[in-house]
Amino acid sequence: MKIEQYFDQTTWAKMKAFADTHETPFVMVHLDTIRKKYLELQKCFPMAKIYYAVKANPAVEIVRLLKELGSCFDIASIYELERVLAEGVSPERISFGNTIKKARDVRAFYEKGVRLFATDSEQDLHNIAREAPGSKIYVRVITEGGETSDWPLSRKFGCHTDKAMDVLLLARDLGLQPYGVSFHVGSQQHDIGVWDGALSKVHSIFTRMKAEGIELKMINIGGGFPAQYEKEVNDIPTYSTEILRFIQDDFGSALPELILEPGRSLVGESGVIVTEVVLTSRKAKNDLNRWVFTDIGKFSGMIETLGEAIKYPLYVEKQGESEEAIIAGPTCDSMDILYEEHKYALPLDLAPGDRLYWFATGAYTTSYSSVEFNGFPPLKAYYL
Ligand SMILES: Cc1ncc(COP(=O)(O)O)c(C=O)c1O
Repeated sequence: MKIEQYFDQTTWAKMKAFADTHETPFVMVHLDTIRKKYLELQKCFPMAKIYYAVKANPAVEIVRLLKELGSCFDIASIYELERVLAEGVSPERISFGNTIKKARDVRAFYEKGVRLFATDSEQDLHNIAREAPGSKIYVRVITEGGETSDWPLSRKFGCHTDKAMDVLLLARDLGLQPYGVSFHVGSQQHDIGVWDGALSKVHSIFTRMKAEGIELKMINIGGGFPAQYEKEVNDIPTYSTEILRFIQDDFGSALPELILEPGRSLVGESGVIVTEVVLTSRKAKNDLNRWVFTDIGKFSGMIETLGEAIKYPLYVEKQGESEEAIIAGPTCDSMDILYEEHKYALPLDLAPGDRLYWFATGAYTTSYSSVEFNGFPPLKAYYL
């Protein structure tokens, strides 16, 4: 991996100096990287509203930064809501994007002033109509894209087109505002063409709803934009050029309001997890596999290594002859293996105390870290 892909020399020198004076494991997050990513995305989609998916990294430092930059926020729970409101974000800049929610939480959002809700079922819609009367509703549809994204999201969420239309009609009948349609093509989506299929589906819903006298106003094209991990990805301008062309093809000059809900692409590349080797071993005298155990694992922030889905770029200071290794975490759970199929080459003389730096770990690490598994504390985080 190349450090320059993530940080310029001066920035990395500062981060490294910081890391050198702190005990592992921890993640350091470079806020200016997030600022740059936000501004790039805004430039690429100038007509869109950006709703940061807080779940990717809910740190107050990030919420504050994005609030100052003018971002809106996609919120998954009452807890995220409280965090974002406490930072002074106004409720008009918030959407309750989780389709799975308790009626009393819907009420709490409404009482705090939130008026934009995602849904994908009648039961949820009835709750919204009762607890958040008159609110704007967008229905989430199921899309393709599971096979080409590293972290698929669609099967559990969304509904099919016919159901989406029933939900929108019911929303009107219940006194809500049928406002738009959303989808998520899967996180770390490599195939930009997947947005094309999803947008065609949205367009057909817009057209068919118009025939029913409902003028939908908004498309929420979700997250799914990539961070740069081990595998090469297209840059954000390439994604935006293609996606805007798809929208133009379907909607022509009658462009609806556009919402994006990025998480990973905004904050992923800002983070570096710093960890150290606890020990190395082989399971037999002539074992070809060397195991490297580190002080971070699946339960302390690297859960997205499940199925080896996300392959973080790894940097090790020691140079010299290297050999592939199996990398595992420190807990007494045999599931706590980070990479076994995908082998990283590590120096032959790697020893306890040597540090490993996992790049692009700003998203879905701190927020996924367990509270106390095996007594290990949650992942420490420093925002620089
Ligand atoms: C509703 C919703 N929006 C946005 C996101 C963020 O997606 P990504 O991190 O791929 O940008 C997620 C991720 O789980 C989500 O569930």
